[in-house]
Amino acid sequence: MSKHLLKINASVNTTDSASRQLAGYYESRMIDKYPNLQITHRDLSMGMTPINEDWINASSIPEEKRDQYQQKILALSDHLINELVDADEIVLATPMYNFSVPGNLKIWIDQIARAGKTFQYTAEGPRGLLSDKPVKIIITTGGTPVGSEIDYLSAYLKQIFNFIGITDVSLIAADQLMMDRDNSLKQAKTQIDQLFSNQQQAA
Ligand SMILES: Cc1cc2nc3c(=O)[nH]c(=O)nc-3n(C[C@H](O)[C@H](O)[C@H](O)COP(=O)(O)O)c2cc1C
Repeated sequence: MSKHLLKINASVNTTDSASRQLAGYYESRMIDKYPNLQITHRDLSMGMTPINEDWINASSIPEEKRDQYQQKILALSDHLINELVDADEIVLATPMYNFSVPGNLKIWIDQIARAGKTFQYTAEGPRGLLSDKPVKIIITTGGTPVGSEIDYLSAYLKQIFNFIGITDVSLIAADQLMMDRDNSLKQAKTQIDQLFSNQQQAA
């Protein structure tokens, strides 16, 4: 069976995007490793539909009791969740916007974090329902150092994946691109190369 990569891009910049470039680099390393790699591209810059009251009501009733309208309103969420379920590995590339996630990525998170489908509350607290799989989060920033006190992006994204059951999360950062873009991108590519050579050593 061939490997299946889900590649998610969140930058609204579609022509000269650093995060897209790094996601592309990651993808090319995956293709080198798995020549039959199956890839699903999810480009959030194409727009995402925000959840609303009808969405919440539809998601909180059992599937078999939903009417046609309620099924329709959850169709995007179902589709995005299936993309996560079907993937063996996920690479999510995102810039930092205003110290946090781009708006379309936040809407994607609202669409995939669904009670009864990707998480559920138990007597012991919340439990993620997805099976664990490797997730690589690629973050680019203009000036904010990743991991600093004003980075409200990296820990948040890790938490979202943990919340839905995915704990195998690695972070690749190309931060402070405004200061030395070439060097920051080079370092991020080195981080990606290291992930692949660590995997080779472990195999
Ligand atoms: C709307 C907007 C908000 C931004 N906010 C921040 C920020 O809070 N901190 C930061 O370091 N860079 C910020 N930036 C810069 C981007 O994070 C930086 O240019 C990033 O690398 C862009 O990635 P991309 O080339 O893949 O689009 C912002 C850029 C935009 C367009």
